[in-house]
Amino acid sequence: MSPTDLGARSLDLTDPAAFVDNDVHAYWRDVRARNPVHWHEPTDRNPGFWVVSRYADVQPLYTDAALGSARGNVLDVVLRGDDSAGGSMVAVTDAPRHRPLRNLLFSAFTPRVLGEVVEEVGRRTTELVSSVVGRGTFDFAAEIADRIPMDTICDLLSIPAADREELLGWNKRALSSVDAGYDELDAIAARNEIVLYFMDLAQERRDRPGDDVISLIAAAEVEGRPLTVEELAVNCYSLILGGDETSRVSAISGVLALIGHPGQWRALRTGEVSVESAVEEVLRWSTPSFHVARTALRDLEIGGNAVRAGDIVTLWTVSANNDETVFDAPRRFTLSRSPNKHLSFGHGPHYCLGAYLARAELRMLLTALVEQVGRMELCGTPRPIYSNFLNGYDDLPVRFEGI
Ligand code: HEM
Repeated sequence: MSPTDLGARSLDLTDPAAFVDNDVHAYWRDVRARNPVHWHEPTDRNPGFWVVSRYADVQPLYTDAALGSARGNVLDVVLRGDDSAGGSMVAVTDAPRHRPLRNLLFSAFTPRVLGEVVEEVGRRTTELVSSVVGRGTFDFAAEIADRIPMDTICDLLSIPAADREELLGWNKRALSSVDAGYDELDAIAARNEIVLYFMDLAQERRDRPGDDVISLIAAAEVEGRPLTVEELAVNCYSLILGGDETSRVSAISGVLALIGHPGQWRALRTGEVSVESAVEEVLRWSTPSFHVARTALRDLEIGGNAVRAGDIVTLWTVSANNDETVFDAPRRFTLSRSPNKHLSFGHGPHYCLGAYLARAELRMLLTALVEQVGRMELCGTPRPIYSNFLNGYDDLPVRFEGI
């Protein structure tokens, strides 16, 4: 069947293979045109849920208090039942507790901390790029994209260098997988490892505080009491989980897009477009997470459909970011695109806490490429991530020539 024959209801959105084996953008174009808000029928394994695809519906729903995140904000998790971190981890906590918890985490990212972390990102990125220029074929994912975000968050949390490789390994197992042999139990075990690791670290910082982010959060109060060690741990985990793979895939997709669009790469190199504008288009183009999930807290109407309290509602960012009524020629990679109000970081109360850092990482990467690389060449077919949540590639065989 050709992608255009798919029909608005014919992809099983709970199946990670749907996102690997099909033309995702053709599918969503069809959904937006024919069935923009619809009920995804239950499957053998899963209950049904609402699918929302147009920007005009998705964007306001991000801020709608009738939709909650406490049962999870990723479809797979909500389908399995409640998120075990619901009400503790910022991304899956609803009002009224969400706001003070978010403010606390945010307040720990002081300008001094962020300034130091970003400076380090710049230094590390410049070094990594210079180590691969002129070296022949290498995997951009493993040698560069893998190494920047995790170190950035680890710097933010003052994680000891010796622990970082292990954390990266757990995080990969927890969120994505490279092929159809995804092992759910292994993913759960990996998540537990991360939480246990952070519980030890949080206890340590509570006993012997420093001036790092974890110590700051450990000493503060939310709604009149300090966070428990478990709450501290899951919120540290949320920074790692939210910030590692998403940043990594945006860097990989950005380089792949620049290689596929030599005119845009030239415009960036000559300064015809600014790095800041390019960063926004890379974020829109790559849309690192396909969707967010919510649960209706009360009855509401979406696009003329009656949604009942308890129903699962999925907001398809990948579709909204390519909605032709908002973005002119959305599948044209246009670094100078303006305005570019993409939803890659979400919108409203749960808007990405790491957006500043994520943008800085991409800015540093593009700057390092412009300063050091003349020609970029693709040397193989990148392997798509087997996921209905994370959008991108696991590897990227390339060659960089110097200026
Ligand atoms: C929230 C995307 C980088 C930490 C979110 C949300 C999205 C997102 C879509 C909203 C989720 C929802 O509404 O349910 C991204 C993308 C990134 C990125 C595309 C990189 C390109 C980061 C980084 C960090 C981070 C670097 C940490 C340093 C968080 C946290 C939340 C969040 C803690 C939850 C905020 C809340 O619930 O109030 N992110 N993120 N993210 N992100 Fe990011």
